[in-house]
Amino acid sequence: MTTKSQEKVEWMSNSKQMKANPGGSIEPDSVVGRQLLIQQIWKRLDQQCVLLHAERRIGKTSVIRKMVAEPPEGWFGVYQDLEDVHSAAEFASAVHDRVQEFLGRGKRAANAARKIYEDHDFGNLSKKKDRPWKNLLITSIEDLIAAKAEQRLVMFWDEVPYMVANICKADGELTAAEVLDTLRMLRQKHPDDLRMLFTGSIGLHHVLSSLHDAQIATEPVNDMFAIEVTPLSPADARELAKSLIGGESLTTGDADEAADVIAEETDCFPFYIQHVVSSLSVDRLPAEPAQIQELVQRQLVDSGDPWELGHFRNRIRIYYANIADARLVELILDSLCGQDLTTVNDLLNLINAQTGEFDDRGNLVRVLRLMEKDHYVSRDTAGRYRFRFPLIRRWWKLDRGLS
Ligand SMILES: Nc1ncnc2c1ncn2[C@@H]1O[C@H](COP(=O)(O)OP(=O)(O)OP(=O)(O)O)[C@@H](O)[C@H]1O
Ligand SMILES: [Mg+2]
Repeated sequence: MTTKSQEKVEWMSNSKQMKANPGGSIEPDSVVGRQLLIQQIWKRLDQQCVLLHAERRIGKTSVIRKMVAEPPEGWFGVYQDLEDVHSAAEFASAVHDRVQEFLGRGKRAANAARKIYEDHDFGNLSKKKDRPWKNLLITSIEDLIAAKAEQRLVMFWDEVPYMVANICKADGELTAAEVLDTLRMLRQKHPDDLRMLFTGSIGLHHVLSSLHDAQIATEPVNDMFAIEVTPLSPADARELAKSLIGGESLTTGDADEAADVIAEETDCFPFYIQHVVSSLSVDRLPAEPAQIQELVQRQLVDSGDPWELGHFRNRIRIYYANIADARLVELILDSLCGQDLTTVNDLLNLINAQTGEFDDRGNLVRVLRLMEKDHYVSRDTAGRYRFRFPLIRRWWKLDRGLS
């Protein structure tokens, strides 16, 4: 029979240990779980391009960085974060710069894109003048396809919706649509050797609807396959929690039990798991169930909002610019706090009970569909709605003083 402390020593030596790093850039070999998801994405990329969507902070960037670092044979991935790209010219220029890193010295000097870049002074983006961004974008990608003729190229573009929204502001909706249409044209022109994967922490559907509102009839991503990044599986969440407990050398009577509690309290969101262990470590608390539960409760009401949960509240007014829609979203979430699975008719009654005047079923269904896309709610097979994540429901209740 082994004693508890012997078990602890054994477990520590068998398990990978990691320091907590909530919100930081995670090394590919510190990304816990995700193997199945990554396999599925590569399998899909074999056929078509992919739109990776998910709730904020769920681990999208960690997944795609790992894919770029560890591609299967025959693939070549390029990662680019597009959050700070503000115009079509900046995008073309950023792609051009990134492509140059992968071309041999001879090719770099001679390639077609380099000539466009230099002839049109793309290096100096502060100078406003019409630049042939489309030509530069197409030629840069095609230069890389040609240089990597033995491999299939995947452009992993992170934060595409932010970039498109920025281009709308700087260059107008028409140019933003043109950028997306150009990317689609490239995908169609190179069906065998080019793939794209877009991801982002705001839904691309919001940005596309602003293009449609501007009367631009474009469906620039309907050839791409949507895949969702969900929280970790319970087993992976426990593994992450255990590795972090070990890495932070937390005192614990039973690491397995502590990891179970952390996984459950955080809905298996890796970001929150990292936060819990980091806070236990900073506050010098042991990894014991009662301490973990208390800590999570404190974090949920912390005015400093270390888990960035205020985002779920603040973005409502941004995503649902129509004030009546935004109000309806809040009423729906308030109603779902007290219920588990709820039919549309029951929701209608609950909202009516709060406002005394709501009977627009069609509008309710429309807003619920949008909320599903934004990961606020989910539907069971009988069409009943509930909060998508129990932890967010728990936070919303506290945030709105509904407990
Ligand atoms: N698989 C994982 N293993 C370990 N930690 C992870 C994992 N995925 C995410 N994390 C933790 O969550 C944090 C956020 O992850 P990441 O930046 O990949 O999410 P994201 O979905 O891209 O976020 P954003 O919406 O802000 O772009 C990371 O800094 C890390 O602390
Ligand atoms: Mg990210």
